[in-house]
Amino acid sequence: MSKKTLSFDYEEFSSVSEMLPEDQELVAAALEAQKGSYSPYSDFQVGAALKLDNGVVVKGANQENVAYPSGLCAERSAMFWAGANYPDAAMETLAVAGSNKHVLCESPASPCGACRQVMAEYQKKQGKPMKIILVGSKRIRKFKCVDDLLPFIFDSLEM
Ligand code: THU
Repeated sequence: MSKKTLSFDYEEFSSVSEMLPEDQELVAAALEAQKGSYSPYSDFQVGAALKLDNGVVVKGANQENVAYPSGLCAERSAMFWAGANYPDAAMETLAVAGSNKHVLCESPASPCGACRQVMAEYQKKQGKPMKIILVGSKRIRKFKCVDDLLPFIFDSLEM
């Protein structure tokens, strides 16, 4: 038996003004994307903005349904739309902003496990990292790749 440690670095900003200009734009797009949220059941508005390597920014927002499992998170709505419409474009950076009753959460909302799994597969498909920015009103976190949010990913039936 050997003990191993997994660690990773990420960036934390206390204000969007500390970020790179292109990331500031993506954060603004994620906040804007919240307007597309259909969330009558949770009253939790999530917006996602996904920058592709062709320069396009795709927006997504959570969509709920009275039959609860039929809804979809903001992150997957953006990634699936991008995958369907720009299948050859790499997903460079995904920014996510979550608000509770229309008030941006102080600490950023973190993607659910299903969204992380989908991110991981697109990242593997494109062969280059997808960066993730999680937006809160008091802090913004930036991760350099999906692996940091989902280590030891299941990605193959081969053992
Ligand atoms: N939700 C997202 O869209 N993304 C997340 O990262 C977490 C949760 C949505 C799903 C549901 O519509 C609402 O937020 C409350 O869970």
